[in-house]
Amino acid sequence: MGNVIEIRDLHVKAKTDSGRVVEIIKGVDLSVADGEIVALIGESGSGKTTIALTLLGYTRPGCAIAGGKVVVAGRDTVTMSEAEKRALRGTEVAYVPQSAAAAFNPSKTIMDQVVEVAKIHHLMPMPEARRKAVDLFEALALPEPETIGRRYPHQVSGGQLQRLSAAMALIGDPKVMVFDEPTTALDVTTQIEVLRAFKSVMRERGMAGSTSPTISPSSPRSPIGSSF
Ligand SMILES: Nc1ncnc2c1ncn2[C@@H]1O[C@H](COP(=O)(O)OP(=O)(O)O)[C@@H](O)[C@H]1O
Ligand SMILES: [Mg+2]
Repeated sequence: MGNVIEIRDLHVKAKTDSGRVVEIIKGVDLSVADGEIVALIGESGSGKTTIALTLLGYTRPGCAIAGGKVVVAGRDTVTMSEAEKRALRGTEVAYVPQSAAAAFNPSKTIMDQVVEVAKIHHLMPMPEARRKAVDLFEALALPEPETIGRRYPHQVSGGQLQRLSAAMALIGDPKVMVFDEPTTALDVTTQIEVLRAFKSVMRERGMAGSTSPTISPSSPRSPIGSSF
C-alpha cells in the first residue's frame, strides 16, 4: 500500500494586517496511507485548515506556501499549474467545509449542486450522475433519497445539509476526502449521526481521509493521527 498523501517540511507564511510576514506553518510532515483515516487535533488557530487547504493546492488570500512538498496521489500540489489544480479538485481531493450552509448556493436545488463536479469535469452523463447522487444520499442515511435533491438548501436541517455536502464531495470519487471540522456547527446528537454516516460511506468506499485537520501546537512536526 502506498501513501496517498505525503506532506514534507511544509512552510506557509501569511501577511498580517500590519504588513508583517509571519510563518503560520513551520515544517510539518504528514503521511496518510491509502484507505487510512487520520484526524489532526489542535487548538483554534494552530493551522489545521491551512494544512488541509494545501491538499487542494489552495492557500487563503494573504497566505502563501514558503517551502516544502504536498504530494497528493503522486503529484505535488505546490508546483502544479492552476489548470492542474482545477483538474485535481473534486476528482482527486474533495473538501467538506465547516459550514455546509456557506458551501451551498441558496438559489439552486441541492441536486443541481451535488452533480456539478460531474458536469464540470465531464465525468459521466447527467442521468448517471443524478442516479449516483441518489445512491450517495441513501448511503449517507438521508431521508427520501429519491426526492431530497429537489429541495433547496434551506429546506433541509443542518445535519442533513452537512451530509449533502459530503455527497457533493463524493460524486467525483476522490481519492482523498478532507473533512474540516464538519460537525462543529451541529448539536451533539446530530454530530454523532453525521459522523456515523461519514464513517460508513468512507469505509464502504475504502477511502483515505483527514478530519478536523490539526497539529499539536507545541510540536508541529508530530501531528496526532488517530482512527475514528
Ligand atoms: N491571511 C492571513 N493573515 C495572517 N494570519 C493568517 C491569515 N490566514 C490565517 N492566518 C493565521 O494562521 C493561523 C492558522 O489558521 P487556521 O489554519 O485557520 O487554523 P485552525 O484551522 O487550526 O483553526 C491562525 O493563527 C490565523 O490567525
Ligand atoms: Mg480551521
